[in-house]
Amino acid sequence: MASYVIRGGRPLRGEVSISGSKNAALGIIPAAMLLDGPCRIENLPDIADVNVLFEICRSLGARIDKQSDGSVEIDPRPIHTSEATHEKARTIRASYYLMGALLGRFHKATLFMPGGCDFGTRPIDQHIKGFEAMGGRVTIEYGKILVEAERLSGEHIFLDVVSVGATINLMIAAAKAEGVTVIENAAREPHIVDVANFLNTMGANVKGAGTDVIKITGVPVLPGRTTYSAIPDQIEAGTYMIAAAVTGGDVKVRNVIPKHMEPLTAKLAEMCVGLEEGEDWIRILPPQDHLVAANVKTMPYPGFPTDLQPQTTVLLCLCDGVSRMTENVWENRFQFVDDLKMMGASITTAGHTAMIEGPAKLTGATVTAHDLRAGAAMVVAGLVAEGTTEVCEVRIIERGYEDLIGKLRALGAEIERKGP
Ligand code: UD1
Repeated sequence: MASYVIRGGRPLRGEVSISGSKNAALGIIPAAMLLDGPCRIENLPDIADVNVLFEICRSLGARIDKQSDGSVEIDPRPIHTSEATHEKARTIRASYYLMGALLGRFHKATLFMPGGCDFGTRPIDQHIKGFEAMGGRVTIEYGKILVEAERLSGEHIFLDVVSVGATINLMIAAAKAEGVTVIENAAREPHIVDVANFLNTMGANVKGAGTDVIKITGVPVLPGRTTYSAIPDQIEAGTYMIAAAVTGGDVKVRNVIPKHMEPLTAKLAEMCVGLEEGEDWIRILPPQDHLVAANVKTMPYPGFPTDLQPQTTVLLCLCDGVSRMTENVWENRFQFVDDLKMMGASITTAGHTAMIEGPAKLTGATVTAHDLRAGAAMVVAGLVAEGTTEVCEVRIIERGYEDLIGKLRALGAEIERKGP
């Protein structure tokens, strides 16, 4: 079992460069499986989830070659099967985007029911509703989902809940369907716009991504044969901004799109965290005075991202007064709170809300990474806690953060990895 050992209490200082977006990459790579020609993708993060997805795509027959400049050449033309049932497909949730890609390509797709981080039930009814509207027949048996369509045709699809996954999956399938698909009540996250831009660069006709109505006019051929660069990771950037703020540090976070960070920067300003901003960077400065309590509610974009909720909860522990954190996206995303309490936090949870009383003095303890972002929150807590914190089961963190240890060390953190 791998763990991180952190000796806390050092303010982070310096510059950190943000990698490509995990969630954009996890949509773009399956979308590339739909193409009729090769493509080159730049700025993909080197993280476990991306590497597992490459392995699954290679098992379908795709050629994927990492280049020395960090870009990746993908040739999906040799794909020979509509069955993405590689063992590893059980382990990452985003493998379900292959449903849209293989359905678009073969009018047929077989996959394991998706896994991923555990923060409550994670239904896929909206994906299924959309595929059925487009002419798909869906069967679930023996832990697998099979979608088949004689004709895949454009339709009006109204999503009952705003779902990132369903929006991306349906957008991918619709790119090669016959006619026009309209997704209403679509999610608007930056990585949805990025997957749409990727598809358009490769020859698709997707309009309206970034609004709640996306219109996709299917095309018979997606030629590819060009290069696309993924956007920077909004959540990685937010994690370093919060890590800088909790330690009272001075960190310039480079290679970000400040517009994507607004839900976080607005809240940090409310808490009196010092901020400066340029075209593609955000600098966190030590606060002028003490940090001030704030109320935060997670919502689909442009609301406050649920994937920054655990890290922000750590920051709220250090703010003066009572803060309220309300989790509106996932039903069970406060599992890390008990670990944080063990470190000295004063938090009570009731349903979807955590009441946080601050400022708390955090002290080192042995804690667990319950899921990817909760794990990142434990690291953030360890950076400010007095003494030594050991964060266990950190492989889950490595699914989504490129070179976390290297980047934190370069900012002056005392952190090391133990174990396999
Ligand atoms: C994606 C992100 C994840 C993030 C989440 C919300 C990826 C790989 N993962 O997950 O990190 O936390 O967006 O920003 O991009 N729902 C349904 N039916 C469905 C689908 C979803 O009821 O068919 C519900 C879910 O239970 C949840 C909400 O909709 O309450 C949002 O889920 P969704 O946006 O689909 O999340 P993911 O795409 O799984």
